[in-house]
Amino acid sequence: MRLPPFELLLGLLLLGTLNASADTPLKETYAESFEVGVAVQAAQLDRAPESRLITRHFGMVVAEYQMKANVIAPREGEYDWSAADAIVAFAEANGMRVRGHALLWHQSTPDWFLAGGDPAAIRARLETYVHDVVSRYRGRVFAWDVVNEPVGDGEGPYRDNAWYRAVGKAYIDWAFHAAREADPDCLLFLNDYGTERKAKLERVMGVVADLLDRSVPVDGVGHQFHLGRRQTMDGIHEALDAVADAGLVSHITELDISAYNDPGSCFVNRTGCEPELLDDEIAGFLAEQADLYHAVFEAARIRPSVSAVLTWGLHDGQSWLNNFPLRRTNHPLLFDRSLKPKPALQGLVD
Ligand code: G3I
Repeated sequence: MRLPPFELLLGLLLLGTLNASADTPLKETYAESFEVGVAVQAAQLDRAPESRLITRHFGMVVAEYQMKANVIAPREGEYDWSAADAIVAFAEANGMRVRGHALLWHQSTPDWFLAGGDPAAIRARLETYVHDVVSRYRGRVFAWDVVNEPVGDGEGPYRDNAWYRAVGKAYIDWAFHAAREADPDCLLFLNDYGTERKAKLERVMGVVADLLDRSVPVDGVGHQFHLGRRQTMDGIHEALDAVADAGLVSHITELDISAYNDPGSCFVNRTGCEPELLDDEIAGFLAEQADLYHAVFEAARIRPSVSAVLTWGLHDGQSWLNNFPLRRTNHPLLFDRSLKPKPALQGLVD
């Protein structure tokens, strides 16, 4: 049998590769190493163009805001499960797993949880809430961010939030124990931002060590990894290695890569913020962003301790970074505002 000319074979090979890269689902590219997920809003799941991309490229979803206490239980004893149920049902209908976010966050705590200030009453309310939420989704949510952002940003190991002021660090213990009691099989995470910075990582690992020393059931650390365009990789490697050294699992829970690197003053009083990218500057940023996304995914791929990587949204138009630290067009995710794959996605699946 005469073989087709070498050039034809080479062309077919290249064509196959090119076709594969354009259509290869992101979740398949990394299936041997970790699960790939995306933060979603219930309304997105009814919009075919977005839901098709979600089911094609991701094997996991997390609720961007609709599984937090201010949405599920705005008033004591009154639950609104509608959005959370819709997200979980969508995932199950599409063979996807669900990451729960977040049982307790100081920024999404309705006033009734801490009303009156009596620690026993606060504990009872928290344990009841955690029991009711985790039980409802037992066997359907495989991991929970039990406490989101409990670690300080300089004031000390523990964030000086309303929970800490009311009952000290005990609220963290109560939440983890209540979650474990409600679902013995669920992975329980402490989730925080800034672990790519040495000082914050040391505080996070100090808090985790203290919890483990007191037999609080922590299974893993969620690294939010809200990164900027000039992020270097050393802090990322150190964060993932520190959690592995503690014998815990890492999830990269809220990955996005902002086009801006604002100074602290921008976050404090909106001064010194970087100006909005001009159209002819965007292409340059997207190339840098593609390299950094690839480096972060590679950092996850080479570590068995990293079992999930989730981006904090599907497309640039939905990102919280268009409004934080100020209203400014940002380009942090893998799909653009027209739902087109960006160089970052192409770089990952190639
Ligand atoms: O979609 C509704 C819209 O229909 C309604 O008209 C509007 C006004 O009420 O609200 C819209 O929902 C908002 C939602 O973002 C979508 O934009 C919610 O009010 C708002 O609370 C919600 O903010 C979320 C925020 O957490 C607070 O829950 C952001 O989406 C979400 O990106 C942000 O995520 C946090 C993580 O949980 C923890 N790490 C930091 C991260 C960024 O702050």
